[in-house]
Amino acid sequence: MHFQWYPGHMTKAKRMMQENIKLIDLVIELVDARVPLSSRNPDIDELGKGKARLILLNKADLAEDRWNNEWKAYFESKGYSCVKVNSKKGGGLKSIQAVIQEACKEKIERDRRKGILNRPVRAMVVGIPNVGKSTFINSLAGKAAAKTGNKPGVTKGKQWIRLNKSVELLDTPGILWPKFEDQTVGLRLALIGSIKDEILNIEELASELIKFMTKNYSGVLADKYGINEDQDSYACLKEIAEQKHCLVRGNELDYVKASNLLLEDFRSGKLGRLTLEYPEVQDLA
Ligand code: G4P
Repeated sequence: MHFQWYPGHMTKAKRMMQENIKLIDLVIELVDARVPLSSRNPDIDELGKGKARLILLNKADLAEDRWNNEWKAYFESKGYSCVKVNSKKGGGLKSIQAVIQEACKEKIERDRRKGILNRPVRAMVVGIPNVGKSTFINSLAGKAAAKTGNKPGVTKGKQWIRLNKSVELLDTPGILWPKFEDQTVGLRLALIGSIKDEILNIEELASELIKFMTKNYSGVLADKYGINEDQDSYACLKEIAEQKHCLVRGNELDYVKASNLLLEDFRSGKLGRLTLEYPEVQDLA
């Protein structure tokens, strides 16, 4: 299967991000904890040069915690601040304010030396589509996110969400585009649902997931669907279709339905907490 990213409004998104990045002190970059490298675009390092950097391992609830900890240590060793979060449930958000202050301490100190006191840190959230940017902004800002809006008579400008007296967040997140030089990256992004399923061969994708699962999480599919894992991936998919009664026209097996069911179980965490790539060893899918 060949993965491709359809750029759409990519150029516009990039231009907007370049403009917005000038206004901020801190880049809050969301990555998917299940695929922390595949879900980041390395161009952000160039774009965010000179800014304080915070990486959030979002959807940490869906990834194995021991690997979340390894990834946190990995990013910290590269000089980023890093926090594990579950934006959907609010997990990990409490510690963020303190981490922001710590990540921006040089800027705060520079301000202080210039006699500028209490100027809030300005931050922008960035990440690839579907990584959880809006969910994160809404959970962190809570009621504050209820925008003041562009009232009639008020000049239209950037909207800042005041989190507290020391942090302001730009209300529009920056969209990063995934990189597809490596097809493994494409596969991992397709598995987590960041590439529209309509443009993929869903049975092939399910077969890749089965290969990954039987190799790295042996026994999980056998437990969940009562199948024999000791056969090729398409035979496993056939058994899943049988076990889950995925049928078309009365009694023909519906492989598309079985594939969607498997992918949905995986993406929603019903197969357990799973990590698809690991620091330094990145050839597992
Ligand atoms: P985006 O702005 O970066 O494009 O992403 P968005 O916030 O729209 O989130 C994409 C999906 O990821 C949403 O699911 C959202 O609920 C889910 N999500 C975000 N953060 C987390 C997290 O930390 N843990 C988990 N488990 N899920 C998270 P959805 O299916 O599109 O919507 P919904 O049915 O959940 O509302």
